[in-house]
Amino acid sequence: MTVHHDHRALLLDGRRTLILSGAVHYPRSTPGMWPAILRHMRESGLNTVETYIFWNLHERRPGVLDFSGRLDLPRFCLLAQAEGLNVILRIGPYICAETNYGGLPGWLRDVPGIRMRTDNEPFKREMARWVRLVAEIIRPLTAPCGGPVILAQIENEYDNIAATYGEDGKRYLQWCVDLARSLELGIPLVTCAAGGAAEAGEKDAVASAEGSLETINAFRAHEVIDAHFRSHPRAPALWTENWTGWYQTWGGVLPKRDPQELAYATARFFAAGGSGVNYFLWHGGTNFGREGMYLLTTSYEFGGPLDEYGLPTDKARHLARLNHALRACASDFLDHERPEVRAVGPAGFICAYASGLAFLCNDGAEPARLAHAGREHTLAPRSVRIVRADGELLYDSAAPLRPLRRTWKSSGARLAPFARREEPMPSDWPVALAAPVTARRPVEQLSLTRDETDYCWYETEFTVAASEAGPGRLTFERVADLAHVFIDGRPVATTPLPLRERRGRMDEGRFTQTFELTLAPGRHRLSVLACALGLIKGDWMIGYANMAEERKGLWAPVRWNRRGLPGPWRMQPGLLGERLSLPAEPGALLPWKTATARDTRRPLSWWRTTFARPKSPGPFALDLGGMGKGLVWINGRCLGRYWNIPESDPMGPWMAWMKGSLVGAPSGVATQRHYHVPADWLREQNSLVLFEELGGDPATIRLLRRV
Ligand code: GAL
Repeated sequence: MTVHHDHRALLLDGRRTLILSGAVHYPRSTPGMWPAILRHMRESGLNTVETYIFWNLHERRPGVLDFSGRLDLPRFCLLAQAEGLNVILRIGPYICAETNYGGLPGWLRDVPGIRMRTDNEPFKREMARWVRLVAEIIRPLTAPCGGPVILAQIENEYDNIAATYGEDGKRYLQWCVDLARSLELGIPLVTCAAGGAAEAGEKDAVASAEGSLETINAFRAHEVIDAHFRSHPRAPALWTENWTGWYQTWGGVLPKRDPQELAYATARFFAAGGSGVNYFLWHGGTNFGREGMYLLTTSYEFGGPLDEYGLPTDKARHLARLNHALRACASDFLDHERPEVRAVGPAGFICAYASGLAFLCNDGAEPARLAHAGREHTLAPRSVRIVRADGELLYDSAAPLRPLRRTWKSSGARLAPFARREEPMPSDWPVALAAPVTARRPVEQLSLTRDETDYCWYETEFTVAASEAGPGRLTFERVADLAHVFIDGRPVATTPLPLRERRGRMDEGRFTQTFELTLAPGRHRLSVLACALGLIKGDWMIGYANMAEERKGLWAPVRWNRRGLPGPWRMQPGLLGERLSLPAEPGALLPWKTATARDTRRPLSWWRTTFARPKSPGPFALDLGGMGKGLVWINGRCLGRYWNIPESDPMGPWMAWMKGSLVGAPSGVATQRHYHVPADWLREQNSLVLFEELGGDPATIRLLRRV
């Protein structure tokens, strides 16, 4: 199949083709889920699936590649093709996507002299190597070679940072496009340089590059479509990100997008001359392992038409009707120029294509009455009706929803009593396994862990004189993300909440943490367990400094009241339990002990149990409402971070630009209580392991089934 475009649409084998796409990030579900997700997409009227490519997951260590299991991109594409779906691949390799480090491997940070996403030789060298490698993997999957891939994207929303890099940034973006073109994949290239922040007016839109198609990312693409056609008169209007909802951070609100508003915005785009949309996301899925960006919850449901577990929601039904209606009349709008717009009354107007197909639109907040093709219409506020030339009503975005209710039921699985192992203070590690780094000052965490674990211990001793004893303040001058503080082996404090997604520059106040403690006179041992919550996804999360500046742990002096602690410091990367592979094996060196009532709620606990595969088919989730914070594994595979933290933080000021489309107030209940257990990760006999930082009661854990 050939892929080209004209000013109206993509041309597949020379024919203008409506693109109705849904985003599904292959690592956020499992191969066992893919067929049903893709089938549902086809049945919902979509003809395309879009995904980013996750460099951060495919090359976790330099030169070690992984395309297995959930990372089997070719298999995902071929399954899509078998369902009759085209594929859009967004190569990035910078992809944003709420994934760890925006899709860049964490180890890039250690490349000498590197600055991400600008005209920087070390970055361009690594990026070019990866992009060329990806090209060879995807080449056989491209449409000209008989595969399903019809479009490729390079970079992602460069506008969000373009102002920082000026001329260097422009050169870099053009270099990206030239690199992608040099691959000769034989399919059009897109950039989608203009992103949400640019839409918010935070930054001047400057980015675009010769040789690629510029696309739109927005909540309401019709509001920017005229500007798009003015800047790109020979390109069609393709909407690469039509956000179906939004993501959630720990302690933050879950902003929601109403299905009727989403359907209105989508239909309104085609009324205005659009010819392709990608619902971002159709299936959001799960941030397994440690794969989410800083502060992102493990669930990545995103308000998608398919829920985290791959089950349809009422949004799916509502959009499926729209997709089928658009498919049914596609040639009536694609084969014609942009429609003529006729205002009728104060709010309503008609976008009439030369074929006679009409989109009756109401952008206002009040109902609008209008007459068309011999029929009276009352359009609900912010709604669109699609009407054929003969007056047949094809679709109404405001048609009532058919509610679909989902609940949790017991899976029938019985968890055996839990066994426990203690995670010791670093000074109590067996000498053979301890490998502390000693320095006068705390050493930044990622330089020690290479982001292969969330955890790093920091330990020092200090003396409190009689005059300094009593209540006081322990201050970490610079720290990220969450710190558990222990004095003489006892837990005394944890980072105050809520944490914020955008923290400003790393040399500013949000990276300082202060703890009110009472200390007796004498010698004390201070142990700090620094817990990373994922790497940032872009410069703006650290005040528009380069992503290479990302840091974790402690990297500046620690003070008791005014006095700096003298050091030296011992840094111990990781947990002993990780060294012993406790998530995977029972642990050979020290035995697990059957837990007693005294063990419940003790911090720094490893918990382990077993259970037989439930008889029901799933989907399954663990109810961790009775636990604190930590990581959880099934059969050695990490399900993700868990954290029983209430939703308390409203939408931040930087989210103001979304408010017409997203709504939500903090519920006060747990940000996330249920943790997806993919059915294809279960065996006849299963092991469940948790590392609990704070304390919690594992006897409350249940395996539930979503119905
Ligand atoms: C866009 C970005 C996506 C994703 C989305 C929010 O700006 O391109 O990768 O981060 O925002 O979910």
